[in-house]
Amino acid sequence: VYKPSSIYNKSPRSMALAAAAQRVALEFEYSAQDVNRGVYEFIREMDEGLSKQGATMSQIPTYVTAVPNGTEKGLYMAVDLGGTNFRVCSIQLHGNSTFSLTQSKVAIPKELMVAKTSRELFAFLAKQIQQFLQQHHGEHYNAHVERRASVFGPPHDEQIFSLGFTFSFPVQQSGINKGTLIRWTKGFDIHDTIGKDVCALLQTEIDRLGLPVRVAALVNDTVGTLMARSYTSPGKTGTLLGAIFGTGTNGAYVEKLDKVTKLGKGADVDHSTGEMIINSEWGSFDNHLSVLPDTPYDHSLDAESNNPGIQMFEKRISGMFLGEILRRALMSLVDDKSVPLFSDEHSNQNDVHSTTNIDSDSPLRKQWGLDTSFLSITSGDSSAGLKVTRQTLDNDYGISAASAEDAEAVRLIAAAIGKRAARLSAVAIAAVVISTGKLGDPQNIATTSTTEVNEDDVVDIGVDGSLVEFYPNFEEYIREALREIPEIGAQGEKRIRIGIAKDGSGVGAALIALVADKAMKGDVT
Ligand code: GLC
Repeated sequence: VYKPSSIYNKSPRSMALAAAAQRVALEFEYSAQDVNRGVYEFIREMDEGLSKQGATMSQIPTYVTAVPNGTEKGLYMAVDLGGTNFRVCSIQLHGNSTFSLTQSKVAIPKELMVAKTSRELFAFLAKQIQQFLQQHHGEHYNAHVERRASVFGPPHDEQIFSLGFTFSFPVQQSGINKGTLIRWTKGFDIHDTIGKDVCALLQTEIDRLGLPVRVAALVNDTVGTLMARSYTSPGKTGTLLGAIFGTGTNGAYVEKLDKVTKLGKGADVDHSTGEMIINSEWGSFDNHLSVLPDTPYDHSLDAESNNPGIQMFEKRISGMFLGEILRRALMSLVDDKSVPLFSDEHSNQNDVHSTTNIDSDSPLRKQWGLDTSFLSITSGDSSAGLKVTRQTLDNDYGISAASAEDAEAVRLIAAAIGKRAARLSAVAIAAVVISTGKLGDPQNIATTSTTEVNEDDVVDIGVDGSLVEFYPNFEEYIREALREIPEIGAQGEKRIRIGIAKDGSGVGAALIALVADKAMKGDVT
């Protein structure tokens, strides 16, 4: 383990840098008391979202009323839009909790994220689907093209792929493959899509290319994660929550239908299970900042974002934003001439003209210039003299000759930002576990002394996203915070199983496409 004390010698320069880094790191502290206040407010906003439209936390009914049990079978397609990449896949569900998946992935061109018209984006997506079919299902695709070209047209019994559309933005869903966009998040901003049915937009472009594909289901990535986790690890009680900690953050969970009072009596809902999956859209938890921390860096990040005042929880947790928070925190030190961060060791700190080691065109000087992956790199850096951090600063960020002390200051602040993100994530997880009553009576939990957790008592949670996958100790920090919540405690924390649902959104979308197909054919599931 790397010891900060071995880095900082006792020179005034060293001490000044260490003190400044400590001061900034402390601004990101999120105490046990903060966690508990957060949980309380989170549960209140969950309830509010279930009872009325237009609440801060959208709590969107998905019309999916059951989770899979692993026996589902068939070949489906899925596409996934909502992070940095657009993915197209075909999934063979084998019916024994396993699946095979073929996929292709392309980075979404930045200009399409802010295109003038929806059509530009959706035409691009349809084109990717066409290329995928040509490449991976060539025979099927070519036969389809031939039949369409023949004078008789395609036969009625032609196999059409059912496609699950993972569209990870807040959508007002009105049916399994119908839903209008409420607002864009995560850097997307195309005005004319708001209020439009995104399934219809995609289907139109698919039809324009004449592809044998039907958009059968509209799926949020969190719902997909929940379904996929349930399919691959069907415990006795099923999975409670699917959560994403990636470019954005959000969770979908299994709620009692009675509690979804805003649905009203007339809603077209299958009541057989008495439950429904709710897409919470927790990224917008506490947009009013009644309990969320708000450092000057959070504040200016939000003010200069393309959606100020919105997704305030997400802006403190997810991969799209953590790099930018760190960048702002570091620049505040660089701009403070009394702090010798990245300054030439031999220069005079009191001289405003003292030389700095940051290039004038360093990405560190530009909004969004610092990638969140850097937080993972530096927080997990155990190399001697933090060599890896220093090399990355040099190669990727135009900061040559950063000293070990500079790197230690950077690491300290980055780790504080990452840890706060994990503790905030724990607030959301805890609130869902507590409000759904899955741990049972807290009195019983406190008095159970067994160390072994009985399979029946496990509360299962599926997660996905770059932060849980790559940020060092993210889950451990979450668990630490969970133990600080009296309603969960050390006993309850042990019963919460958190597992990665890899490729969750693809498999989950396929599973929902399957449910949709069955419903269309009138099969009873
Ligand atoms: C954003 C989106 C949400 C999605 C999440 C994770 O919060 O609004 O729909 O689930 O990102 O991708």
